[in-house]
Amino acid sequence: MINATTRLIAVAAYPVHHLRSPQALNAMFVQAGTNAVVVPCEVRPEDLASFIYGLRGVGNLSGLIVTVPHKAAAAALCDQLGPQAQAAGAVNVIRREVDGSLTGELLDGLGFVAGLAAHGHSVQDRRVWLQGAGGAASAIAFALAQSKVAALTLMNRSPDKLAALAERLRVHHPQLRVEIGGEIGAHDMVVNATSLGLKFDDPLPVEITAIASDALVVDIIMEPAETALLRAAKARGLPTHTGRAMLDGQLSEIITFLTKTG
Ligand code: ATR
Repeated sequence: MINATTRLIAVAAYPVHHLRSPQALNAMFVQAGTNAVVVPCEVRPEDLASFIYGLRGVGNLSGLIVTVPHKAAAAALCDQLGPQAQAAGAVNVIRREVDGSLTGELLDGLGFVAGLAAHGHSVQDRRVWLQGAGGAASAIAFALAQSKVAALTLMNRSPDKLAALAERLRVHHPQLRVEIGGEIGAHDMVVNATSLGLKFDDPLPVEITAIASDALVVDIIMEPAETALLRAAKARGLPTHTGRAMLDGQLSEIITFLTKTG
C-alpha cells in the first residue's frame, strides 16, 4: 500500500505504453515486502532536462529508470557516472543520493551477465562470440569484458560499427583479447545482440550448424520469447538462454543499484 514512507522510482520513456519494467518491478516489490512504487512517466525528449531537474528535489525519490530514447541524453544530466555508463556514454538507471546529486549507470550489460549467472552460466574464462555492434551489443560487450571473459569475438553486418566497437573495447580493456570474426565453432557461448529474430521471417543471425556442439546459445530478443535462433539451437541439442531471462537479471541489478547508497 502506498503511504507516507513509500519510495518512488520513476521510469522515463517516450512512448511508455510498451514498458514491461513497471509491472515486473512493482510485483517484485510486493513479493519482497518493499515499500516502493515504480511509476511510468511519459517524457518527451525536449522535456527530459526539466523533468530530471525537478526530481532532484524529491526527497523520497530512490531514482529513475531511463529508457528509449533518453539513455544518452540522461547521462549528460547526471552528476557522476559509473564505469559502464562512462564507457558507453549512456545510462539506464539514475540513483538520487542523500545530498540530491544524481549517479547514473548503464546496467543493461551487467543485467545480461546477472541473468546468465542466475541460470548457472558463468561467463568468466569463456570464449564468447557476440553478434551485433549496436547499443545493446555494446553494453553487453563492456559487461562481458568487465566480467573477465577469456576472449571476445565480435561480428556485425556493418564493418564500420564493428571496428568502432572493437576499438573502444581495446581502449577500455587493453588486457582483453578482442577479435573480429573468425571461427564461430571455437567459442563456448554465442550471443545474438542484433535485432534479427524480432520478425518471424528474419534470417538466423548466425550459422547454427557451425556452432560447437556444447556451446550455449543466447538471444537478447524478448518478444518472441523463443526466437528462430533458439528453436534451431534446441533442435541441435544445444543449451539456450532467452532474452526474458536477461530482463529478470536487469531488474534485479536495477533494484540493487537503486537501494545502494553511493
Ligand atoms: P539496439 O539498441 O537494440 O542494439 P541498434 O543500435 O539499432 O539497436 O543495433 C541493431 C543491431 O542489429 C546492429 O548490430 C545491426 O547491424 P548494423 O550495425 O549493420 O546496422 C543489427 N541488425 C539490424 N538489422 C539487421 C539485419 N537485417 N541483418 C543483420 N544485422 C542487423
